[in-house]
Amino acid sequence: MRLAGLGKAYGSFTAVHPLDLTVPAGSFFALLGASGCGKTTTLRMIAGLEDPTSGAVLLGDRDVTALPPHKRPVNTVFQNYALFPHLDIYENVAFGLRRRGIKSVKKQVHEMLELVELGALARRKPHQLSGGQQQRVAVARALINHPQVLLLDEPLGALDLKLRRQMQLELKRIQTEVGITFVHVTHDQEEAMTMADTVAVMNGGRVEQLGAPADLYENPASTFVANFLGQSNLIGARITGRSGEDLLLAAGDTRIALPAARCRAASAAEGTAVLAGVRPEKITISHRDDAAGIPDGRNRVTGTVADSSFTGVSTQYLVATPGGFEVSVFEQNVERDTRLVPGAEVVLHWNPAHTFGLDAAQDIDAGTEDES
Ligand SMILES: Nc1ncnc2c1ncn2[C@@H]1O[C@H](COP(=O)(O)OP(=O)(O)O)[C@@H](O)[C@H]1O
Ligand SMILES: [Mg+2]
Repeated sequence: MRLAGLGKAYGSFTAVHPLDLTVPAGSFFALLGASGCGKTTTLRMIAGLEDPTSGAVLLGDRDVTALPPHKRPVNTVFQNYALFPHLDIYENVAFGLRRRGIKSVKKQVHEMLELVELGALARRKPHQLSGGQQQRVAVARALINHPQVLLLDEPLGALDLKLRRQMQLELKRIQTEVGITFVHVTHDQEEAMTMADTVAVMNGGRVEQLGAPADLYENPASTFVANFLGQSNLIGARITGRSGEDLLLAAGDTRIALPAARCRAASAAEGTAVLAGVRPEKITISHRDDAAGIPDGRNRVTGTVADSSFTGVSTQYLVATPGGFEVSVFEQNVERDTRLVPGAEVVLHWNPAHTFGLDAAQDIDAGTEDES
């Protein structure tokens, strides 16, 4: 599927800026972004439910922009599954075939019900199923039409967390099994990363960055992506020089080495302001008494534990530094250091290779929960 300059404006408000995007056949693609960033509008344009202001939707070599929804080889699954309440599960799934005048539906319906593991519940009515089961019926009902592309608009939004996690794996399995292109819309970054081969991060009607989940996570190109996808420490610093492949930065009294190849600031010249980024799980926290044991060559920040919260798998520390910035650290609960309580003096250290550099001319809080 290819979107070529596909855009949508409502009057003077641009909901989706002209978008160029290629989704390889058979892949699982996620559109990720906060509420209002234009995800549903994009899906509706692909489905033909919304006329674009500009651009085209192509499936293979075929331009489908002018086709009405029912003539496009595309089906949509919405958050409110909209099953027919008076029909049983079997008839809900058979619906698309019957509407097209197909008489012998039995084999196909059974195959679909097996695919979503609901064969035993074929004669139940929708209200006799759980939310997750109903969602699987909605998927079966859409897939039985053999669409080229299946669009899913926050299909798991109504489910509780545990069921949502289960359904993410289930949908991924179904997609792998049928090999149909899935375009999945979600505001949940973990969901997008778990399921998709490729994630497009949307912000304000634009795709900010697109890539494989691990690549986006490790190499965010903007503060928005760094903060929206997981968490990042972003430290305001200046370039003071260079040592081999690394740029040397200063943030107050703190010295930070940053691989030059990972710096996305406009310039690598001395004096340039950059944001030095590092993910909380890449950092090790050591009590100050153990500082002598920290190997040479690591980036180091000294500070005081301001807060610690135990979350089971890990403990999350917030460390205040003399430079005025705070650093968040996730430490796996293997051997917990009981000295690391609020007020403890610590040294944080990490492999310089895990540092990324962002242009400082951006909102440092973009994509965070308390972004104003
Ligand atoms: N019919 C419409 N008229 C005017 N504005 C709209 C309309 N539909 C959506 N919008 C606006 O377009 C933006 C994107 O909406 P939408 O695509 O639904 O976002 P998302 O699905 O990412 O939450 C929002 O600001 C929304 O208010
Ligand atoms: Mg939406």
